[in-house]
Amino acid sequence: MRQPLSTIILGVSALLASQVSAAANKLTLIPSSAWVTSRNPNPSNATFYLYVPTNLTSNPAIIVNPHWCHGSASAAFSGTQLATLADKYGYLMIFPDSPNLSDHCWDVASPQTLTHGSGGDSQGIISMVNWTIKKYNADQDRVFAMGTSSGAMMTNVLLAVYPEVFSAGMAWAGVAAGCFAPSPSLNLTASQAVDYWSDTCATGKNIKTGAEWKSTVEAMSPGFKGLRPKMWVLHGSADTILYPQNLEEEVKEWSTVLDVQLVETRKAYPKTGWETRVFGKTGGHGGVGGEVDRFRATLASGVTHDIQTDAGLVLEWFGI
Ligand SMILES: *[C@@H]1O[C@H](CO)[C@@H](O)[C@H](O)[C@H]1NC(C)=O
Ligand SMILES: *[C@@H]1O[C@H](CO)[C@@H](O)[C@H](O)[C@H]1NC(C)=O
Ligand SMILES: *[C@@H]1O[C@H](CO)[C@@H](O)[C@H](O)[C@H]1NC(C)=O
Ligand SMILES: *[C@@H]1O[C@H](CO)[C@@H](O)[C@H](O)[C@H]1NC(C)=O
Repeated sequence: MRQPLSTIILGVSALLASQVSAAANKLTLIPSSAWVTSRNPNPSNATFYLYVPTNLTSNPAIIVNPHWCHGSASAAFSGTQLATLADKYGYLMIFPDSPNLSDHCWDVASPQTLTHGSGGDSQGIISMVNWTIKKYNADQDRVFAMGTSSGAMMTNVLLAVYPEVFSAGMAWAGVAAGCFAPSPSLNLTASQAVDYWSDTCATGKNIKTGAEWKSTVEAMSPGFKGLRPKMWVLHGSADTILYPQNLEEEVKEWSTVLDVQLVETRKAYPKTGWETRVFGKTGGHGGVGGEVDRFRATLASGVTHDIQTDAGLVLEWFGI
């Protein structure tokens, strides 16, 4: 079942070769004794690495960057320009490292990781965020998540399950939150469902209506009534690991959850051959800050699963 993932390693190592981080400082391991408590749990034993930039600002923003399958916190750190840019702009970065399972993917499938306050990798990551906000007096209104592949899948999950924690997310080659949950007909126990690999979802066959995705997401964060974080999803049209249909499922999910409509299609944006649909509130709300641009979906023509992230674009979307 997990064989196709080896392709991810190959793909991403090519990416790493072209993007070597020049961050000024080293990644810091925050030992679990420093941050894990009963009120700040880490039930799946994820590992917490933090990047503290050279010019940390007061009340800094936080970007959470979960790694891809078979990846690691240090590979994500050295593979992104975001840590280098943190030295300039002064934000903190959390690089979580997934529990020691054979494929080193994030658990985006179990009921615990997909339910607010119920455990799993998602809860451990939220505990890292909580600790960082306290320790560094970080700005709780500027907490962001971004990632590629399994990191993008976790970004979708974090925003769906913990909408009160994040202001925005950006998911490169991921799947809709909940898409990897095993079908109930498989009768998996909660622990069997941890890190379940859904071929159905990966191959673009987990198709739901917007209304169905909305109930899926609302069940992950029951009772949440606040403003949900804005989201930008990007996907290659030639992705054979997570088929491009997954972009359409993310579109149905987030446009329905955020209650936004298509306002504009930008051709050749953010680059030639890519096309971006911009969603917002139409009718009466036009021009109101942010309301017209709460969700974006980009199809990158001819791009495989090895989609190249653009750190400048990430910062622009997060307003940093
Ligand atoms: C996490 O680590 C603790 C302490 O070592 C251990 O008791 C527990 O079983 C681990 N949990 C998982 C899900 O591996
Ligand atoms: C940090 O700030 C100082 C003073 O503003 C500046 O000279 C330096 O270039 C900054 N460092 C980086 C890596 O941007
Ligand atoms: C992680 O898993 C590998 C392979 O399954 C094993 O060899 C290694 O000892 C494990 N490391 C820890 C810290 O559990
Ligand atoms: C982290 O902070 C949020 C927001 O204050 C809170 O809801 C949550 O219980 C805290 N801890 C965890 C692990 O989610």
